Amino acid sequence: NTYRIASIPGDGIGVDVTAEARKVLDQAASRFGFGLEWTEFDWSCERYSKTGTMMPEDGIERLAPFDAVLLGAVGFPGVPDHVSLWGLLIPIRRAFSQYVNLRPVRLLPGTSSVLAGRGAEELEMVIVRENSEGEYSTLGGRHNAGQPGEFALQESVFTRVGVERIIRYAFELARARTGRVTSATKSNGIIHTMPFWDEVFAAVAAEYPDVSSDQCHIDALAARVVQQPDRIDVVVASNLFGDILSDLAAAVTGGLGMAPSGNINPPGEHPSMFEAVHGSAPDIAGQGIANPVAQVLASAMLLEHLGEKAAAQAVNTAVETVLAEGGTLTPDLGGRSTTEELGSAIAAAL
Ligand code: NAI
Ligand code: MG
Repeated sequence: NTYRIASIPGDGIGVDVTAEARKVLDQAASRFGFGLEWTEFDWSCERYSKTGTMMPEDGIERLAPFDAVLLGAVGFPGVPDHVSLWGLLIPIRRAFSQYVNLRPVRLLPGTSSVLAGRGAEELEMVIVRENSEGEYSTLGGRHNAGQPGEFALQESVFTRVGVERIIRYAFELARARTGRVTSATKSNGIIHTMPFWDEVFAAVAAEYPDVSSDQCHIDALAARVVQQPDRIDVVVASNLFGDILSDLAAAVTGGLGMAPSGNINPPGEHPSMFEAVHGSAPDIAGQGIANPVAQVLASAMLLEHLGEKAAAQAVNTAVETVLAEGGTLTPDLGGRSTTEELGSAIAAAL
């Protein structure tokens, strides 16, 4: 079996960590006896600076035939962040109906988490972020520029189809892991979209009497992630709330360098896309010291998605082995190794 993978390393540390993830994936393929056929795309802010676009006009059609996409990160100083995100990442997520952004959070060995030693070693939660609508919308505008009455309006879009399918995905996931679902809401302050979200949540929850669930305002839920993470299993959240919560959860469990994510098209009609939660980190770009673990764990999610479950498990185990052994760690983990050294150590452990 040979899978066709599109790689978009992007900008900054996205390029470094994607090279290591590819090394680990190739190792997994040779050990588990399947093929990976790579095609690399130079779509990035660098391309934007030269051509005026992040990706070619037919970019989506070119990605469509692939089995999966591995994305580094996009964004670099000099190119406004809304250009890099709306010029590449968000169009791909929407064109391929990758309406689930799946962000598993685990406390890994050898990390200096603020939770370490608090009995949270077994901590494992999943954030299911809505990835196609919500607060990230183009509706709205700027008005009365430069006048005393200047204002900006930004609308959110919550459709019944969109809200229901993401909540249902969270319940299916919780059922499979015999866990519980927590809904991130804010229906006390946001009076149209969030009460609607709550209503749909209650209706879907009623269809899953065997899965326990609760809802929590996003502010209180943020505190719970820090203070009682063991009370959380599967969180379902809107696009913005899920985005914020997943960086927070990553930070308290050992840092952004460890957090993977998948942009999933659940029916499998279109390619899904895997990436680290972190961005292009211009502050450490070009130094060869970025932690590749998040991107390697994202690659394990990619393998799982392709159905190569044993290979996915082996990649996760290789990461845990290298982290627990502790001799090859990047500076964010308190070590002195390079991106390349940590990536090679994981590939060797595999
Ligand atoms: P960031 O995640 O790139 O960096 C935040 C902090 O975490 C920095 O101090 C960075 O050095 C550190 N960090 C992140 N990943 C790390 C790793 N693997 N190893 C060690 N340290 C790591 O977020 P920031 O600074 O807000 O954004 C930088 C650029 O990335 C912006 O242009 C932003 O728009 C873009 N971005 C792109 C994303 C994507 O392509 N999916 C996601 C998030 C941000
Ligand atoms: Mg984010």
